[in-house]
Amino acid sequence: MIDKVFVPPIKCQGIKTKLVHTISGIVSQVQYNRWVEPFFGSGVVGFNTRPNKAIFCDSNPHIIKFYSALKEGIITPKKAMFFLEEEGKKLEKNDGEYYYTVRNRFNEKGDSFDFLFLNRACFNGMMRFNRKGGFNVPFCKKPNRFAQSYITKITNQIKHIQEIINEREYSFVCQPFQETLSSLMPTDLIYCDPPYIGRHVDYFDSWSESDEFDLHRLLVNSGAKFILSTWHSNDYRKNQYIETLWKNLNVMTRKHFYHVGGSEDNRNPVLEALITNFDASIKEIPGMDITPKQDQRVHQYAHKQRLLTI
Ligand SMILES: C[S@@+](CC[C@H](N)C(=O)[O-])C[C@H]1O[C@@H](n2cnc3c(N)ncnc32)[C@H](O)[C@@H]1O
Repeated sequence: MIDKVFVPPIKCQGIKTKLVHTISGIVSQVQYNRWVEPFFGSGVVGFNTRPNKAIFCDSNPHIIKFYSALKEGIITPKKAMFFLEEEGKKLEKNDGEYYYTVRNRFNEKGDSFDFLFLNRACFNGMMRFNRKGGFNVPFCKKPNRFAQSYITKITNQIKHIQEIINEREYSFVCQPFQETLSSLMPTDLIYCDPPYIGRHVDYFDSWSESDEFDLHRLLVNSGAKFILSTWHSNDYRKNQYIETLWKNLNVMTRKHFYHVGGSEDNRNPVLEALITNFDASIKEIPGMDITPKQDQRVHQYAHKQRLLTI
């Protein structure tokens, strides 16, 4: 189990910071050789679980480029600090308009320092790309965004994550999940956190029913152990795939409140599901139901929440 959760420097929708303890509690019960994470996002789960050996993948090239640059020392805490100080001054000088200069520059050249700048100065910490793959999130409207205390916080996040990467055997690969899951070993542990089906769509982050079916097939046929994050239900609806596609697996649920994201959908409480193909016997944490084989407790909980079935 881990004591302190390290927050990574890049934020994204669906970041699992609040679920890290629960997930690491499940992971601590399992013997494995290599950690495989096909939907890396911010990396908060893998970086905090801290396996010795891991392959971290994502279809978003900017995320992978950023962490590869961190691994190779192209990005360092010092360089990031100077960059944010310089660019932060320009942002403050012209009342925030400079954000759009950096956004245009990033959409032309895809530089990782610009990616960091935009990720930490955009509206609600969102990561969204248009149909041409251009970052299109507006400014957070705080011209003094990069105050010294905020830069120090980001710099420390980079320092911690870089230390974690440097001490271990990690690779970062930009590829679709089908490729990541096509070269597995039985001793791997896979942690999957795909875009939530039926929730949102974006250039690097869309998800269809056929993706969900592909993921199910590749995971159950892999011969490796896996943990899948998905949503169970919210105040209005229920994830129907839990009781159909994923029905023969172990399902645990936990309430979670998302803080990243612009839409109501992303900022409301959600009952998260953690699905495994092995028996996870973690101690009950307040606010968490443990429901091997989807026993009655999920349904009782769902009733208490007055959930509607779609
Ligand atoms: C919900 S986020 C993962 C969040 C991450 N677990 C965290 O805590 O920050 C889903 C990620 O999957 C990536 N993704 C979406 N579709 C993908 C695909 N077909 N193949 C690989 N990655 C994909 C997105 O770019 C996004 O970073």
